[in-house]
Amino acid sequence: MTQAHPRISKAVIPAAGLGTRFLPATKATPKEMLPVVDKPAIQYVVEEAASAGLDDVLMITGRNKRPLEDHFDRNYELESALQKKGDADRLAKVQESSDLATMHYVRQGDPKGLGHAVLCAAPHVGHEPFAVLLGDDLIDPRDPLLARMVQVQEQHGGSVIALMEVAPEQIHLYGCAAVDATPDSDVVKVHDLVEKPSAADAPSNYAIIGRYVLDPHVFDILRKTEPGRGGEIQLTDALQQLAADEKIGGPVHGVVFKGRRYDTGDRGDYLRAIVQLACEREDLGPDFRTWLRSYVTEEM
Ligand code: G1P
Repeated sequence: MTQAHPRISKAVIPAAGLGTRFLPATKATPKEMLPVVDKPAIQYVVEEAASAGLDDVLMITGRNKRPLEDHFDRNYELESALQKKGDADRLAKVQESSDLATMHYVRQGDPKGLGHAVLCAAPHVGHEPFAVLLGDDLIDPRDPLLARMVQVQEQHGGSVIALMEVAPEQIHLYGCAAVDATPDSDVVKVHDLVEKPSAADAPSNYAIIGRYVLDPHVFDILRKTEPGRGGEIQLTDALQQLAADEKIGGPVHGVVFKGRRYDTGDRGDYLRAIVQLACEREDLGPDFRTWLRSYVTEEM
């Protein structure tokens, strides 16, 4: 089976959201550009795609998203100023983001939901399996998830989603999967999916986290998918159809992630992500942890 599949090389990153939860910071700046410690959130996501071997990245953007394109492009003025100063460290930081991957952009136009955003990638992706990475979820590079998902897709074909066990009272924030075990302890077979169920209706506590490796048949389904939860075209609903009928685009498997994930989706989670990541940084961590410890014991 492995031989029949082309190597997965394309990643799609939906980034058209308005970021209303972060107003006024996001009035004129895309939420994807908000710094997580000292790098824009979106750069972590592109780095993750590149390190899983996906060096063709398509961003689904919208109005006010120009800074995203600029961030992944060269900045000759800044580069030559740093070169003249002999500031090699900062020059490397400026060049890092433009060397990561081949970037492409398409605008979503109407924000009709995640499923619709993914459908905008159809002409670029063509008939190959491809990955989708959602910017609100940051996965620690020490716990590579995407590379494992690509491996599982190559083994089983079809589509692969990332799952994480969450507390029952959290499941209404996520897509939820009904699953069966497989011989691989970190892989499950998905047989049903529901977008953001109540705790009472949830078929399990397996939440979809924002990483997908998708069979291109998902586009055919998305074209016909009616608006679902929140009046939006939901990716989860299209995946539910793939899971229900393997003849369309192969099976749907889940990789159960137990590693470190940071949520930057709302203000509280965003603050926690920054504190956690700053504490773990070799350069900033030691001083920051010392300060944080005394702040917590003395001030709180
Ligand atoms: C989206 C998906 C949901 C998934 C979540 C992961 O929801 O629709 O199925 O669980 O991402 O972060 P959003 O958080 O964009 O509302």
